[in-house]
Amino acid sequence: MSTGIDGVIAAETVLSHVDGEAGRLIIRGHDLETLAGRVSFEEAVAILWSGFVPTDDLKSRLGEARRRAYARFAPLGSQLNNLTPIEGMRLLMAALPDSEEEHATLAVGGAAVAAEMAIRASRGQTPVAPDPSLSHAADLLRMMRGVEGDADEVAALETYLVTIIDHGLNASTFTARVVASTEAGVLSAVVAGLCALKGPLHGGAPGPVLDMLDQIGDATHAETWLDAALQKGERLMGFGHRIYKVRDPRADVLKAAMRRLKRRDNRIALAEAVEAAALNVLARHKPGRKLETNVEFYTALLLDAIGVPREGFTPLFGAGRTAGWVAHAREQEKAGRIIRPQSRYVGPWPAEAA
Ligand code: ACO
Repeated sequence: MSTGIDGVIAAETVLSHVDGEAGRLIIRGHDLETLAGRVSFEEAVAILWSGFVPTDDLKSRLGEARRRAYARFAPLGSQLNNLTPIEGMRLLMAALPDSEEEHATLAVGGAAVAAEMAIRASRGQTPVAPDPSLSHAADLLRMMRGVEGDADEVAALETYLVTIIDHGLNASTFTARVVASTEAGVLSAVVAGLCALKGPLHGGAPGPVLDMLDQIGDATHAETWLDAALQKGERLMGFGHRIYKVRDPRADVLKAAMRRLKRRDNRIALAEAVEAAALNVLARHKPGRKLETNVEFYTALLLDAIGVPREGFTPLFGAGRTAGWVAHAREQEKAGRIIRPQSRYVGPWPAEAA
């Protein structure tokens, strides 16, 4: 038995492959580097969904889905008070019925609208209605910030959304597949995936990455600060991965996107110094564990640079990953068998009858 079910193959998929030794991510036959920064989010979704969900005219169908989701979510706006953005997003997504037609596009369109509404509500701002004529990434950025992004900012968000679209059988995707295997429906599978993503060991790490950079404050303190954190038994957010034993290729793709934004502010210089110091300190404290930078480290910097508040990082991750959860839910439904592992009983046995 393995508590983290490491190394257990629980599904066959055509959707993505994570090669943790080579540091390679393949999405439906394409290396990540040939997609991220090169194709639109809609094109990436079409590649992923091919054969599982209709992919014609996705730009306008996603625009229409955002409009439908907004109409459904708007009356729920007052219920977002006092919820964190990811909790608010969970509440809104749970309001989408599994019986809706076009539920795959509704899930992805809805996730973008739910993310912006929940992020804005947490900042005391009213929601912004979608503009179905825009691309998904451009509209998501416009809704969330209340003003349109420039071409570089939209390109950065688009690169991010494509980079995180799918990633093998990670915790949230596995969760989504378990729910889909019960025939509960794609939207229920997506809500379940979002709940799993919320945790700091999975999709909740990038906010704490910025907190860590703020606390370190100055590159000259990095090594001492990180050393002390590890001595207290803390984990360094943005480092380590169950599968990657070399650098996570998504970290490099996002670092390159960050450089294309040409925002060479102090935080990026600090981040690069902290990354180098963290790798040194981890190698010292955890020899042989092969702890490298993961996707969350540069996610934090990229999303911060385009004006996403740090508590909005996980909702945006969910907005992009929804496309992956949808495809996995569909694939699992086609596989047609309920996922039902076993546990080993280690509790007390009833006293034997005399
Ligand atoms: N900082 C310090 N030590 C770490 C870290 C870290 N970030 N990650 C792993 N370790 C250590 C563990 O303490 C453990 O040490 P030990 O052998 O002395 O007990 C060893 O490395 C192995 O760790 P596991 O917990 O077995 O690794 P696991 O595969 O279960 O965890 C995880 C993977 C959860 C990503 C882990 O590396 C972690 O907590 N990272 C920080 C949070 C983070 O960045 N999450 C985002 C991941 S990317 C994603 O999900 C999108």
